[in-house]
Amino acid sequence: MTTDQPTYEELRRRAMAAAEPRVRATDAAIACDRLVRIFNADGIEVQALQGLELTVDQGDLVALVGASGSGKSTLMNILAGLDVPTAGSATVAGHDLLELSARDRLRYRREAVGFVFQQTARNLLPFLTAAQNVALPMQLRGGGGFRRGAAARRSARVAETLEALGIGDLAHRRPAELSGGQQQRVAIAVAMANRPEVLLADEPTGELDSETAASVFETFRTVNKELGVTVVIVTHDPMVAGEVRRTVAIRDGRTSSEVLRRVVTDEHGEESVSEREYVVLDRSGRVQLPPKFLAALGMEHRVAVDLAPDHIELRPDRS
Ligand SMILES: Nc1ncnc2c1ncn2[C@@H]1O[C@H](COP(=O)(O)OP(=O)(O)O)[C@@H](O)[C@H]1O
Ligand SMILES: [Mg+2]
Repeated sequence: MTTDQPTYEELRRRAMAAAEPRVRATDAAIACDRLVRIFNADGIEVQALQGLELTVDQGDLVALVGASGSGKSTLMNILAGLDVPTAGSATVAGHDLLELSARDRLRYRREAVGFVFQQTARNLLPFLTAAQNVALPMQLRGGGGFRRGAAARRSARVAETLEALGIGDLAHRRPAELSGGQQQRVAIAVAMANRPEVLLADEPTGELDSETAASVFETFRTVNKELGVTVVIVTHDPMVAGEVRRTVAIRDGRTSSEVLRRVVTDEHGEESVSEREYVVLDRSGRVQLPPKFLAALGMEHRVAVDLAPDHIELRPDRS
């Protein structure tokens, strides 16, 4: 007679697997595959994400652009561990976001990712100084917070973090004594307090004038370069989007196109930035072509497709 009782070996294997950190499914910092998020508001279904694909390499700095309502915040909230997708897969810093227990999710939010919101007021506690705001996530992370020496070590790490971001002089100011741009830079320090692998920011410069926005963006660049954190910034600012190596565009809950930039040096030693637009090819071979290309050639419904030796040709249907 067979029983469904697990063997001792099987129980032991499960216990070990539960105790051990999950094996990295991928080396990428962020990997989303066919990600779907459906909201149900008053019986009406909204498909905010409709099979989104996104891979971000470790150490990269990526801008995410797209019209209002295209699903950018939905994606960011999922990556931050604040929301759970309906289907598909999402792995961030080696954590499978569909498999996290409530306890692991909390730890994930505190340690694996940092998050900066658009609303400056949402990022900082008003009654704490900049230094105290940065210390808070370290304290929440816990573990011997009251042991001797812990407080001294912590304040050294707070100072180090503020210095790395060039805002050491703001340590003792409360948010009301800081400009909007300074508040956002402190918010970046708070998000970086526990040295996460991934830093996410949802329109962090949306409330700032363009000059201030540039200084905040410079701080994102600094943490990306100096601390090696992978950064994803949602932005409407064409200047920001134009300065990063990679810009990903979202349309209707899907990644639709990308622009990659690299510095090229010509034969006279002149440097210039070369830009190339790409569309995302999903696993089923689907691509979303840029609307401006389709409009230019009047393509719709059906297009003629031919294989050339090293590319694929698409033409308007003239049959
Ligand atoms: N909590 C929610 N409940 C219902 N619908 C939502 C919710 N959050 C977002 N949506 C809808 O999902 C779509 C994408 O929204 P969002 O991710 O906020 O877009 P974006 O940040 O690009 O402007 C929109 O149609 C929005 O109305
Ligand atoms: Mg949004």
